[in-house]
Amino acid sequence: MALVHVTRRLTDGGTDPLIAAGHEIVGPHLDDSPLTAAELNEAAANSDGLVCLLTDRIDAEVLSAGAAGGRLRVVGTAAVGYDNIDVTTARKLGIAICNTPGVLDATTADLALLLILAATRTSTLAEDDLRHGRWTGWGFNTHLARDVNGATLGLIGYGRIAQAVAARAAGFDMEILHTSRNDTGLPGFVPTLAELLGRSDIVSVHVPLTESTRHLIGAAELALMKPTAVLINTARGPVIDEDALVDALEAGTIFSAGLDVFDGEPSLNPRLLTAPRITLLPHIGSATIATRTRMAQLACQGVCDVLAGRTPPNQL
Ligand code: GLV
Repeated sequence: MALVHVTRRLTDGGTDPLIAAGHEIVGPHLDDSPLTAAELNEAAANSDGLVCLLTDRIDAEVLSAGAAGGRLRVVGTAAVGYDNIDVTTARKLGIAICNTPGVLDATTADLALLLILAATRTSTLAEDDLRHGRWTGWGFNTHLARDVNGATLGLIGYGRIAQAVAARAAGFDMEILHTSRNDTGLPGFVPTLAELLGRSDIVSVHVPLTESTRHLIGAAELALMKPTAVLINTARGPVIDEDALVDALEAGTIFSAGLDVFDGEPSLNPRLLTAPRITLLPHIGSATIATRTRMAQLACQGVCDVLAGRTPPNQL
């Protein structure tokens, strides 16, 4: 039996693998508030395993505290993205990291479609008019937006979530292009980001946040997009230079945007809140009960596997 610290409350059944393995579970706070940096260090120093969320910063300090405590063998994050974890240091210290690939693809792809539809049809703006008494009646020339059906969708990155978006977009008779670091050899591959941006009516970001993808979409890239184009981000906020995006929306050099993720979230660049033709969601890509439960269980199962001396398939 090992001691596993779970940093935040998970959905019902989420910790079942830990319970089934007979591990002692510590945490989260009764009010489900996040652990401070000092509390995370302490948790790492005094546990064999840690189950965290993407909002927990598992940096070199936390991992070193775990190594110094002499117990920490594994961190399971209930997320697919792991830019909050210093994986290089974890490897050096022999601490395994597990994430949750595969179980949230469909749910996140659904949300990407929601944003594609909302941003392209400017439904946020239309609903806002209705809710604030600005709707004076059905108008032939009001709330005119753009078509999703028949549009060319450009996917930046072509991993599992992007492919799930492509499958859904096919139902809207969209032409689907994608680009990625390596030639996928698949239909729709375009070799450069510049070509993808120039050809697409809707561009959707599906790359992880790394040093090479930070501000991948900045002023220069936005300038390559069509003035009628729509930009969607369900990956990580810092992949887009938000100030450059607001500049483009304000200048009308792209049509609209839909974002589920933000640089520095939950703080928001205030310019996003007043930018024209933008739909904003509070990072809910994987937020369904079933999917969050699968994510929690997969992260906990990875922790159990490592503690039992096995290498789980979701170990990074
Ligand atoms: C959500 O953003 C995740 O990485 O799981």
